[in-house]
Amino acid sequence: MIKISPSLLSADFGKMAEAVKNLKLWGSDYAHCDVMDGVFVPNITFGMPMVAALKKYAEIPLDVHLMIINPEKYVGEFVDAGADIVTFHPDASHDVLGALKVIKSKGARCGLVLNPDKPLSLVEPYINEIDMILIMGVYAGFGGQKFIPETLAKLAAAKKLIERSGRNIELEIDGGVTESNIGEILAAGADVIVAGSAVFKSADPAKTVASLRG
Ligand code: DX5
Ligand code: ZN
Repeated sequence: MIKISPSLLSADFGKMAEAVKNLKLWGSDYAHCDVMDGVFVPNITFGMPMVAALKKYAEIPLDVHLMIINPEKYVGEFVDAGADIVTFHPDASHDVLGALKVIKSKGARCGLVLNPDKPLSLVEPYINEIDMILIMGVYAGFGGQKFIPETLAKLAAAKKLIERSGRNIELEIDGGVTESNIGEILAAGADVIVAGSAVFKSADPAKTVASLRG
């Protein structure tokens, strides 16, 4: 079963409680929360206080994507704030294993994210620790970018890596996903679909969420 995780980055930041409640009404499985620090990526969004605020209204798991340097310093606080899944970029961390272990020890699921220029070899050493691999279809930092088609091959290779591991790891795709390219993305093996602008700019978001399941 394909899961849909709309990104709140494309929501009206003045109406976040309403946005996260709407995600459930629209049939979403997770609520994707993009945390950006202005250092790892050239944009700033929100941190733990917003995750804690969203948690009060979210009836679906919070899928928190950290685009921050030294995530090992903060992952515990994000789980305490209410994150159900925490993913971070291994190239931003000095202690990938330590960060993964903190997330798991606090009862959340953990995963690693790869930008388009980062190889799967960054994830492979941690395959027995992670619950999710997130492949970026764009360079992390902004919503509304165009999907980079070359990332489909990495998505398919990640699927094979997961199958070889025999572990229950979700394969998530994030960035540039639309109703036009969802077919090839699902064919490459994605299980969890992040979509920001495609859902929030849709005239009928519930219909878009349904159609992104393929
Ligand atoms: C980009 C974020 C994405 C973004 C997706 O840095 O990680 O989650 O919100 O937005 P769309 O679907 O509009 O590309
Ligand atoms: Zn994201």
